[in-house]
Amino acid sequence: MTLSDEISALTEGVKNPVSNLANTAALIFERIPRLNWAGFYLTNGEVLELGPFAGKPACTVIPFGKGVCGTAALTGRTQLVPDVHAFPGHIACDGASRSELVVPLFRDGLCLGVLDLDSPELGRFTEKERLLFEEAARIIEQFL
Ligand code: SME
Repeated sequence: MTLSDEISALTEGVKNPVSNLANTAALIFERIPRLNWAGFYLTNGEVLELGPFAGKPACTVIPFGKGVCGTAALTGRTQLVPDVHAFPGHIACDGASRSELVVPLFRDGLCLGVLDLDSPELGRFTEKERLLFEEAARIIEQFL
């Protein structure tokens, strides 16, 4: 079963978006190796606010355009960052994070939030995984 299939199966018939985001974050954190954080930031006006996640407590508000998450939200483009220390304006929530993958989530052309994955390993995320998580994002958008 692909990750997208697992997310579909896990959220089928559940209407509450918070429940679905929480279970999706937990599933990704359990299933994908070498992560220290997996979860969501959700758009509220011009900022991203912390949503359901698995991992250590994190920053609660990220303005559009700030950090890796805010850059993904502002540009509407996935950010695959092999070395977060080399990313201008990176927001260090967990000092253990070394690489990051952030995929924007859309509805009707608007960015409603982002899926954020952090790893303690440099260069942890591959192009193949970028595609895997972009595919999963299309499922996640359906229950936002
Ligand atoms: N590092 C992120 C902030 C969110 S935490 O990693 C959970 C960023 O620069 O946007």
